[in-house]
Amino acid sequence: MKIHIPRGTVDIMPGESEKWQYVEHVAQEIFKRARYSEIRTPIFEHTELFQKGVGDTTDIVTKEMYTFNDRKERSMTLRPEGTASVARAYVEHKLFGQVNQPAKLFYCGPMFRYERPQKGRQRQFVQIGAEAIGVQDPAVDAEMMALALSIYQELGLKEIKLVINSLGDKTSRLAHREALIAHFKPSIHEFCSDCQTRLEKNPLRILDCKVDHAHPLIATAPSIIDFLTDESLDYYTQVKRHLDVIEVPYVEDATMVRGLDYYNHTTFEIMSESKGFGAITTLCGGGRYNGLVEELGGPASPGVGFAMSIERLLAALAAEEITLPIANHLDVFVVGVGEAVSPITLKLTLAARKAGFTAERDYLSKKVKGQFKTADRENARFVVVVGEEELAEGLIVIKDMTTGTQEKIAMSDYIATLQKKQHEGETN
Ligand code: HAM
Repeated sequence: MKIHIPRGTVDIMPGESEKWQYVEHVAQEIFKRARYSEIRTPIFEHTELFQKGVGDTTDIVTKEMYTFNDRKERSMTLRPEGTASVARAYVEHKLFGQVNQPAKLFYCGPMFRYERPQKGRQRQFVQIGAEAIGVQDPAVDAEMMALALSIYQELGLKEIKLVINSLGDKTSRLAHREALIAHFKPSIHEFCSDCQTRLEKNPLRILDCKVDHAHPLIATAPSIIDFLTDESLDYYTQVKRHLDVIEVPYVEDATMVRGLDYYNHTTFEIMSESKGFGAITTLCGGGRYNGLVEELGGPASPGVGFAMSIERLLAALAAEEITLPIANHLDVFVVGVGEAVSPITLKLTLAARKAGFTAERDYLSKKVKGQFKTADRENARFVVVVGEEELAEGLIVIKDMTTGTQEKIAMSDYIATLQKKQHEGETN
C-alpha cells in the first residue's frame, strides 16, 4: 500500500527548496541589519499557552489546533503561530530584565492549523516572523511594518499594499464590545452556533467568522474607530505620522480585526494586489499586543510583531512572475578516463570542494564522451580530465569550458590553477 503525504502539507523538493533558502536568507539579512536576533522555540507547547495567548474563542484555538495528550496525559499542541511562544520565552528567560528594550526577536519555522486546505492555505506552513517586546512607541510599530514590507520589496514584489487599523486600548475595546452586542443581539439567531457563543464571550470574533462573513449585519457593524479613547486615537495618529515621514504608503480599514485575541492598538496586514494571486490575498499579518506578556505571567511588557508565510510569499512572487536569482553553478567537473583512475577523480573532486568550488564527478561508469555530456548539461565552468597515462607522469588536463582552451598541468598545481583561472574569469 502506498502511503501518501497528509492533506494540507507539501514536500518541498529540489528546484523548489532553493527558493525557500533564498527567501529565508534575504529575511535573515534584513533582520540582521535591523538588529533582530533569531529565537527558536519548540514546535509543541502546553495547550494552555495558546488558549491563554491566542484566545479561547478564536477559530485557531476552537477549531484548528493539533492537540494531543503526551504519554503522561499532558495536553500539548503543535504551535499554530509564533507570538505566544516568543512571549512565553520572553518571560521564561527574563528578557524584560535586559538593559536594552525592546527585545528584538525573529523566527522562521513551521506552524500547524487544521484548516480546509486551498491555494495559500495549508495545515503545515512556514512563518517568518518578528516580535519587538518591552516598549510601546509608535516608532516601533511603524518600523515593524516597514520591516515586513522590506522583505517583500527586497525580493522584488511591487503589487502589495499595507492595510492598517487600530483596535484601541481596553476602554476602547469595552465600549466597542457593548456596541457590537447591541448590534448583533436582536438577530443573533441568524448566525452560526459559534457566533451565538461569541456574542457574549467575544463579539469582535463575529466580524471574522468564516461562516457568516457575508451576513449584512457584518458590513454595518459599529466600527472600532468610533470608540477609540483620546489616548488610543492619539497613538494611532502618531503611528500614521511615522509611516508618513518614512514614506510607507498605507490604507486604513476600520473593519480589519485580525483573528487572534491578543491585539490592541495597531493592527496591520500586507495584501497582494496581483491579478494572478488566488482568493486569499493576505500575505502578512501583525500588530501590537500589550498585555500578552502579563497574561503569561511576566511584568507589563508591550509588544508588537508580524508573521508571514513563505508559501504565500512564493505564491505572490509567482503571481508577479518574479524569478529569484538563485545561483546553482557548477565550477568543476572531474572526468576520469578508465576505471583505474576512479579514486583520483574522487580525490580531485573532494579537493576542489575543500577549496570552496562546487565540484562533481560521474558515478555511473560513463564513457569519457558521456562524462563530457554530463559536464555540459550541468554547465560546468571547468572540466578536469584524469587519464592513466598522464597520471603516471603526475599530470592532469584542465579545460575552460567558456573559452574552450585547455592545458596540461602538474597535479600539484591543480587548486592553484583553478583559483587563478577563476580569478581571471571574474576580472575579464
Ligand atoms: P496570522 O494572521 O494568523 O497571524 O498569520 C500570519 C500569516 O501567516 C498570514 O498572513 C499568512 O501569511 C500566514 N498563514 C496563516 N495561516 C496560514 C495557512 N493555513 N497556510 C499558509 N499560510 C498561513 C499570526 O500568526 C500572528 N502570530 C502574527 C503576529 C506576530 N502578530 C504579532 N506578532
